[in-house]
Amino acid sequence: MIKKKNLVFLGPPGAGKGTISEALLAKEDITHISTGDIFRAEIKAQSELGKMAKDYIDKGQLVPDEVVAGMVGSRLAQDDCDKGFILDGFPRTLPQAEMLSAELEKCGRSLDGVIYFAAADEVLLERLTARVLCKKCGKVYNKIFMPPKNAEVCDDCNGEIYQRSDDSLDTAKDRLKVYHEQTSPLIEYYKKQDLLFDINSVQDKADVLADLLKVIA
Ligand code: AP5
Ligand code: MG
Repeated sequence: MIKKKNLVFLGPPGAGKGTISEALLAKEDITHISTGDIFRAEIKAQSELGKMAKDYIDKGQLVPDEVVAGMVGSRLAQDDCDKGFILDGFPRTLPQAEMLSAELEKCGRSLDGVIYFAAADEVLLERLTARVLCKKCGKVYNKIFMPPKNAEVCDDCNGEIYQRSDDSLDTAKDRLKVYHEQTSPLIEYYKKQDLLFDINSVQDKADVLADLLKVIA
C-alpha cells in the first residue's frame, strides 16, 4: 500500500498509462506530468525543443536522457507537485532513473511507488494502432475499445479526432523494441528498491483503475 502519492507510471507503449492517469485525476487532485504530452505540445508550438524531439518520436526512438531529465526536473520543482504527482512515461532508461533521483533530492521530494502496467506485445500493438485522440483537448480514444460517439469529433469538446504519427504499425513495433531494450530493466531496478507495484492492464479500464486504487488507498 502506498501512503503518499508521488508516483511513477511505468509500462510499455499502449499499456494505458495515459488512460489510467486521466481516470485517476478525476478522483485525486494530483499533478500529471506526461513527457510524451509535453513533447507533443512543444511540437505543436513548433518550439526548438519540439523540432528536436520530433525527429526521435517519429522514428520511435527515445529523446536524449539529459533533455528529458532537465525538463522533468524543472517541472517537479513547481509548487503544484507538492500535492503529489504522476510521472507518466518517465523515467524510461536507467540513466533517467538516476537523474530522477538527483532531481527529486534537489527539490526535497521522494518517490512513494512505481506502478508497473503489464501487457503482452500483441495486445499493445492492437491498442496502439487503433488509438485516436482529440487535436484540441488531447482526450484519448480507441477505435476498437473506446470509440468516440462520432468517429471524427471529440465527445467532450468537438475537436478533430486524429491518429498519432508514431502509432503506425511499424513505428509502434520499433517503440516496443526500444521499451524492451531500454525501459524494461527499470522493473527490476524499482523492485530492488521495494517501490514496484504490478498491475494487470489487460482488463477493463474500470478494473485497472480499481486495482490501482487498492494499491494507493
Ligand atoms: P509517450 O506519449 O509517453 O508514449 P508511450 O510510452 O509510447 O506510451 P503511449 O502514450 O503510447 O501509451 P499509454 O500507456 O499512455 O497508453 P494509452 O493510455 O494512450 O511517448 C511518445 C514518445 O515521446 C516516445 O516514443 C519518445 O520518443 C518520447 N518520450 C516520451 N517520454 C520520454 C522519455 N522519458 N525519454 C525519452 N523519450 C521520451 O492507451 C493506449 C490505447 O489503448 C488507447 O487507445 C486507449 O484508449 C486504449 N486503452 C487503454 N487502456 C485500455 C484498456 N484497459 N482496455 C482497452 N483499451 C485500452
Ligand atoms: Mg501515453
